[in-house]
Amino acid sequence: METINNTNNMNKDIINTDNTQKLRSAKALKFNPFDKEFHANPYPIYHRLRSEDPVHRYFLEDDWVLTRYADVKAILRSGRVRTHNQPELLQLKNQYLQNQGKNLNALDHASNKFLFYMNPPDHTRLRGLVVKAFSPAVVERMRPCIQQIVNDLLGQIQSKGTMDVITDLASPLPVTVIGKMLGIPNEAQDQLHQWSNVLFRILDSLVSLEEYEVINKVIEDFQEYLRNLVAEREKDPQEDLISTLIAAREENERLSQEELLATCILLFMTGEETTVNTIGNGMLALLNHPEQLKTLIQEPTIIQNAVEEILRYDSPVQMTTRIAIDNIEIGNQTIQAGEKIIICLGSANRDPAQFPNPEQLNLNRTENNHLAFGDGIHYCLGSALARAQAQIAINTLLQQFPDLKLASDKLEWRKNIVLRGLKTLPVTFTCR
Ligand code: HEM
Repeated sequence: METINNTNNMNKDIINTDNTQKLRSAKALKFNPFDKEFHANPYPIYHRLRSEDPVHRYFLEDDWVLTRYADVKAILRSGRVRTHNQPELLQLKNQYLQNQGKNLNALDHASNKFLFYMNPPDHTRLRGLVVKAFSPAVVERMRPCIQQIVNDLLGQIQSKGTMDVITDLASPLPVTVIGKMLGIPNEAQDQLHQWSNVLFRILDSLVSLEEYEVINKVIEDFQEYLRNLVAEREKDPQEDLISTLIAAREENERLSQEELLATCILLFMTGEETTVNTIGNGMLALLNHPEQLKTLIQEPTIIQNAVEEILRYDSPVQMTTRIAIDNIEIGNQTIQAGEKIIICLGSANRDPAQFPNPEQLNLNRTENNHLAFGDGIHYCLGSALARAQAQIAINTLLQQFPDLKLASDKLEWRKNIVLRGLKTLPVTFTCR
């Protein structure tokens, strides 16, 4: 007995030493999305996390961090997780502000109706109603309109010899496209742009109460605007998404008015900054890889592959979150029911177990099942639209200005830990 105990203790010691070493190295290896270095370039830390501690404890909040492709994919497809409880948190914030005579009423009420915060069965019903409006066939019909918007934007700068890819092209494009899809009149474009610039902040995890109040005001104003537009479309339906959603609402009342308004607003929240970042990050990656850039200029037909590689290489949405519904065993760890999981899409897309030479930008990569649009039931609703916009914007830009050059070596990333995108991307080119 004694001997067995001793042996057990000895084994325990060995295991403990082993664990202590692992813990030390895990301590040294910290996932900290607020760290400046990580923000500038998260990929070296992702690399270490995947190989040293793929199911990592986030030191700030005891959340779990997943970085390997297989784990990320499995958790997104798992029925044992639900979305992050953002609506409940917003409700608490609202109650807090109400005690001070302020409120977040509009945001609080709308957030329960945003698809990406919803869970089955409500998510399944609402998504089923809007998914048809974003089918690849509908998006194909939008291509000439997207091309026209890109041509108009580039027409405004073609004689200047210099442009900011973000403010002159990437940023105005998606708001205009989503506005047109919904059937929002052209006169409202400037207003839409201002609203979108505020709304996307909701996707970040560091939003101050003051910022939430600003988002709340935008939601109030946007809802008011949309209510009037819906009333017009009820009388006089058009070939647009609002009219399609009204038809869905009237069919057995399966879509409430609140859900209809929230869905329209959600499209601007989710569809603007993500697309801006795809075009911005993609152009930066190409300008930093002149060989690849040259290949794309000479063979514009590879644009579909090229955009998939861009999405993989520097993913515009770096992470998402879920809450475990019950205990989940993953990589020798147990994630307890109720714990939060940070799912690093940007890391999964650089996992060498899935992508050969993942740190290389290779526009001719053939096997490219990246997770830039997520996976499972919340897979991006606007993926076809985002792809079409990025393909048209990047190809047109390169065909019109084939000698495009970076005009600055000091580029800054936006202060957002979920979405990865540049503040500006100045370039020069020969005038046409
Ligand atoms: C390249 C640009 C885009 C990227 C990288 C992107 C990425 C994503 C990702 C990763 C998710 C899943 C989030 C999660 O699982 O928690 C998502 C969901 C979503 N995306 Fe996108 N997105 C893009 C463009 C768009 C566009 C243009 C629209 C619409 C106009 C859109 C609408 C949505 C919606 C509505 C959801 C929620 C779907 C649901 O919860 O069922 N996205 N997107």
